[in-house]
Amino acid sequence: LRCLPVPKRRYDEVMAHLRLNFFADEPLNRAVGLCKKGENHLELERHCLATLASRMSCMIVDENDKIAGTALNGIVKRGERDENERRLAELRDPKFKSIFALLFKINEKCDIPNKYGVDEIFECRILSVDESFRGRGLANLLVENSIRIAKSNGFKIMKADATGLFSQKVFLKYDFNVITEIPYSDVEPSLRPGPPHKALKLMVKILN
Ligand code: ACO
Repeated sequence: LRCLPVPKRRYDEVMAHLRLNFFADEPLNRAVGLCKKGENHLELERHCLATLASRMSCMIVDENDKIAGTALNGIVKRGERDENERRLAELRDPKFKSIFALLFKINEKCDIPNKYGVDEIFECRILSVDESFRGRGLANLLVENSIRIAKSNGFKIMKADATGLFSQKVFLKYDFNVITEIPYSDVEPSLRPGPPHKALKLMVKILN
């Protein structure tokens, strides 16, 4: 298994991987029933492609060059709150909108650029491992590589909105701190992931 940057020519393959392994499977997507395994979701696809365009994402490929996992990494900029609110208002699918409203809400609880005195933050936005490769440390490898990418691009702060227990374990292992969280018991039932997932956690690592 090798971890590599995602070249533009493989964006279609990355999207196919995400449709099979992330779109239906990520805890909040699953809770709202966003889509079926393998099905596309236009607004989520747009979000993924916009993140890939930052050119800071990485993927793991197996010995046959098949994509086994991806970390889609993007940049959060100081002062983009209003733009995010506008984007949220423009979303069409109520299920997708309810997920984004929750992510917006947790990020409202803490103005990270201001808290850490930086203009840009490196965000691990979408972490996804092929179902047949899970539980073998691939997410760890993706986060480790993402940290390397963040450091080599001069970022001082890295964050993730970690929605499930397994991604939270990975970020904790790499010394991310939970800055704030929203327990799923406080979230409306239609948006609430089942066990073992307990809370949405905003996690931050200071890079040095
Ligand atoms: N049951 C119990 N524990 C598990 C399971 C499982 N099914 N899967 C992983 N774990 C544990 C591992 O034991 C490990 O914990 P440990 O360090 O205490 O041993 C930890 O979770 C991470 O294990 P990895 O093998 O590195 O994780 P994996 O490669 O399986 O990928 C991931 C984890 C990315 C969450 C995967 O399950 C997945 O793609 N899920 C669907 C998409 C998703 O939920 N992504 C994260 C959303 S948050 C975000 O994107 C920022």
